[in-house]
Amino acid sequence: MSFYIAGTGSALPEKIVSNEDLTAFLDTSDEWIFTRTGIHNRRVLTHETLNDLAILSARRALEDAGVTGQEVGLILCATMRGDTVTPSLACVVAEAIGSRAPAFDVNAACVGVLYCMEIADSFIATGKADTVLIVSAEAMSKLLDWKDRSTCVLFGDGSGALVLRKGAGRLAGVLSTDPDSHVIRMPNIEGMNSPYNEHAPEPLAMHMDGGEVYKFAVNAMGRNIAEVCRLAQLAPGDIDWYLPHQANIRIIDASLRKFRIGKEKVLVNITDYGNMSATSISVLLDEYARRGTFKRGDKLLFVAFGAGLTSGAVIVEWGKD
Ligand code: ACO
Repeated sequence: MSFYIAGTGSALPEKIVSNEDLTAFLDTSDEWIFTRTGIHNRRVLTHETLNDLAILSARRALEDAGVTGQEVGLILCATMRGDTVTPSLACVVAEAIGSRAPAFDVNAACVGVLYCMEIADSFIATGKADTVLIVSAEAMSKLLDWKDRSTCVLFGDGSGALVLRKGAGRLAGVLSTDPDSHVIRMPNIEGMNSPYNEHAPEPLAMHMDGGEVYKFAVNAMGRNIAEVCRLAQLAPGDIDWYLPHQANIRIIDASLRKFRIGKEKVLVNITDYGNMSATSISVLLDEYARRGTFKRGDKLLFVAFGAGLTSGAVIVEWGKD
């Protein structure tokens, strides 16, 4: 006995930035970005903070699940970097929703929500919690070099949340890391003030070998889908809905091609939001859940890859309370 998904929520910055908008300060075009990635628009933080979005998406998920902050037994935040190093984003959310449950952040880049689901599985299966709130929140716009057209056009900001409750919905999960950490790297600038530090300061910005990430992504997504289906004793064709990480539409298509999955089963929203790292999968889930896409008993397969390099997949049956 582990969890089922009891509620979802999301919150996005107001500001919409189109590919066309980026051409005002970058040598790029809508045609280049859209044909290579599937992205038209992304949301970008302006007056909002990441804390604001995380708290709002958490409240929406709790309301959807009919759960109060006091009923939550564990709070996990998937983020690469919150507004503050401490308190963690999870502690900020805990305070806002009136919870005294254990709360901590998980940094597994774009796979963060799947890592959180598997931690929640362990807490619930061992009786440490009955209800877990997972919040993902990423301020990608603050982590990018806006002069580097090969990275800054790919990402967006946002937050998503889900409430997991004790039940029989989770069918299987797999998580892993691959050792090629150099292909996506974002240095930390903190600590450069130390009189003892002997390292040269590096500006905070994402460096990525796009071609290498592409190859890793297609390989890791395929490997994780095959493995999680094997664990759940299902064939890829038995899955009703695929919810892949939204990094690049070409990566999604290439990863799923060999399983001969009908396009209508593969959910996407990358066109509107770009890659929101850990938040992509939770916003995708919330949007389709609120549209009434999922029926009781449907099998949802979440699959993601990210910096680290991390990857994973989880299968959940909808509504198994
Ligand atoms: N606009 C116009 N031209 C551009 C842009 C841009 N925004 N960015 C790069 N170019 C140029 C390059 O300079 C290059 O020019 P050159 O041939 O004169 O040197 C040319 O376009 C081709 O670039 P490629 O890298 O070959 O383009 P490709 O088709 O491989 O697409 C992309 C690049 C979209 C980055 C692709 O490799 C990709 O999607 N990789 C995976 C990225 C990813 O998933 N990252 C997620 C990481 S998860 C995380 O970090 C949390």
